[in-house]
Amino acid sequence: MVKPSVLVTRRWPAAVEAQLMDRYDAVLNWGDTPMTPAEIREALKTYDAVLPTVTDQLSAEALDVPAAKTRIIANYGVGYSHICEPAARSLGVTVTNTPDVLSECTADLAMTLLLMVARRAGEGEREVRSGAWTGWRPTHLVGTKVSGKTLGIVGFGRIGQEMARRAHHGFGMKILVQNRSRLDPALLARFGAEQVDDLDALLPRCDFVSLHCPGGAANRHLINGRRLELMKPGAYLINTARGEVVDEFALIQALSYDLIGGAALDVFDGEPRISPDLMQCDNLVMLPHLGSATKEAREAMGERVLNNLNDFFNGRDPIDRVI
Ligand code: DGY
Repeated sequence: MVKPSVLVTRRWPAAVEAQLMDRYDAVLNWGDTPMTPAEIREALKTYDAVLPTVTDQLSAEALDVPAAKTRIIANYGVGYSHICEPAARSLGVTVTNTPDVLSECTADLAMTLLLMVARRAGEGEREVRSGAWTGWRPTHLVGTKVSGKTLGIVGFGRIGQEMARRAHHGFGMKILVQNRSRLDPALLARFGAEQVDDLDALLPRCDFVSLHCPGGAANRHLINGRRLELMKPGAYLINTARGEVVDEFALIQALSYDLIGGAALDVFDGEPRISPDLMQCDNLVMLPHLGSATKEAREAMGERVLNNLNDFFNGRDPIDRVI
């Protein structure tokens, strides 16, 4: 039997690449450089399946391929706002993602960022490494206590819930939640959480706000200048969702004028390009999109793609079908 042809746009964990090579006529990206829109268009004409990830822009233009051969875009990652949904629908392709398996690790990283920014860990590390540390003193790098504070979670999907679990059960935090749909009271009760109808009503009540909503046009600049002003002075913003959810220009103003206590970002608008003004903000922690970056999560994400492909090429609806 002829194996379906599959293009993988970036390097994946070796164990998963080996399975892809075994089961499919797979072409891997040995150089691991992001693909250009032209290369993606070419791939859509050439392969039965394209396996992209967040660094690939599958825009309306890239997906405007009348003679496409590709029938499934099996994304490696849970977020798929880099795939233009209307264009994918008109192309008639199936699109899948990789939920669940990265929720705990992404929440671990969000908690890492929360602790780092509250306890000024980034500033401390920079000081030690630069040789500028002069020793212990009562007023040195004094941060903010985390335990018992109020955390606002924006988007209460699987990652938001894992964040609530850590913050509530580990740090005794009070959890406020903002979510598009009404949540089951039994689910909220698991984390001692309260659902607040409106983001504007949630922000002034929180000491920390952590973003776990999808990216894309609908949530672009959800956190803008007006909403940053609604936050408590001294409160902290954590973003492990998508860069475009935060208006970075407004955030730079808020950080520079101490409108909020600080921010911690794992994702950036237009990443890996980072605004030079963000670099100047000392009350900001920045990580290079590490949310799911554990061996366990990355291998499990690959397994999830393999399962989706297997279902699709055996005539079943893949469990993680999103389009
Ligand atoms: C995702 O899965 O969407 C992350 O951003 C990469 O793990």
